[in-house]
Amino acid sequence: MYRLIQKAAEQHSLNREELIALLRNDEINRRLFETADEVRKQYVGDGIHLRGLIEFSNFCRNNCRYCGLRRDNFNIERYRIDEDTIFKLAEHAAVNMKLRTIVLQSGEDLHFSAEKLCRLIRRIKSLDVALTLSIGEKSFEEYRAYREAGADRFLLRIETTDKQLYLDHDPGMDWEQRVDCIRNLGRAGLEIGTGVLVGLPGQKTETYADDILFFKQINADMIGIGPFIPHPDTPLKTASGGTLTMALKVMALTRLLLPDINIPATTAMETLAENGQVMALKAGANVIMPNVTLTQYRKHYELYPGKSTTGYTPDESLKAVKEKIAALGRFVAEGYGFHRQKI
Ligand code: 5AD
Ligand code: SF4
Repeated sequence: MYRLIQKAAEQHSLNREELIALLRNDEINRRLFETADEVRKQYVGDGIHLRGLIEFSNFCRNNCRYCGLRRDNFNIERYRIDEDTIFKLAEHAAVNMKLRTIVLQSGEDLHFSAEKLCRLIRRIKSLDVALTLSIGEKSFEEYRAYREAGADRFLLRIETTDKQLYLDHDPGMDWEQRVDCIRNLGRAGLEIGTGVLVGLPGQKTETYADDILFFKQINADMIGIGPFIPHPDTPLKTASGGTLTMALKVMALTRLLLPDINIPATTAMETLAENGQVMALKAGANVIMPNVTLTQYRKHYELYPGKSTTGYTPDESLKAVKEKIAALGRFVAEGYGFHRQKI
């Protein structure tokens, strides 16, 4: 097993069976995490990229069975932040907090048309930041328009590579269409961010192996991996949820196979354990996304319960993140934190 980890660290390739064997064996976890940490250091260094996250609308037309923002959840108060306020939040993050990337995230909210978004993108780009969108499935033309307006990256998780499971958990959605969307991001000149949930009912070790191989095949620039955390207002409320250990293992193996990409220590990991993000940063992660949304909105952006950043202000979120980084002996990276040179 240790030989397999070594091979992955040197050659950045493992086959399905090898991945499954490593995912199944919990005795090797320590070595796996340490090796992913070494590979991270070797390829992307000790700098941690910060991305300021603005959750600007919690309206969503989809009905994913795991997500608190799903259309049929009538227990949440829906909000949209207006364009000027979104811009002000971005400005605060860029000018006062010195963040070099802004991430605009929302449910699939048709209120924000391509035209509105492009206007917002242009305004935010005037702040000299990189801009990431995380707003769901759109047409190739729309992705192209965002790129032309100045967007640099896009996050669209595949959620799971098990097609049947995807169909079960994302009613009305189409797995192939989602893969097309992810490919279109790259064709449109955007950096591709994708990722999966870990611990959805029905996911198997084999699924995670396929997930990791998918990341490589799609040529991802960023991969976000989060444990599934059951939300009380969803059909999956009684499910058992994912474990931090499995999420970290999938993440560490992803680092071994895609050594130079950007990998965030996700908020969902921090929600499962107080030091979840620190553990992730020591097992392959090199990015943190501090939440810069106004406190009043945060409690309504509840993808899953207990989201660790809920009660904080933007400045408090940043401070907490910086303390973690300092405690690790790492530092905040300078620069925009691109994986590829901009096309
Ligand atoms: N637990 C953890 N992550 C979730 N997401 C949605 N619902 C949950 C949940 N219950 C994740 C999805 C989505 C991202 C924005 O949030 O993977 O892509
Ligand atoms: Fe909407 Fe995304 Fe939640 Fe699915 S995971 S319901 S697309 S916000």
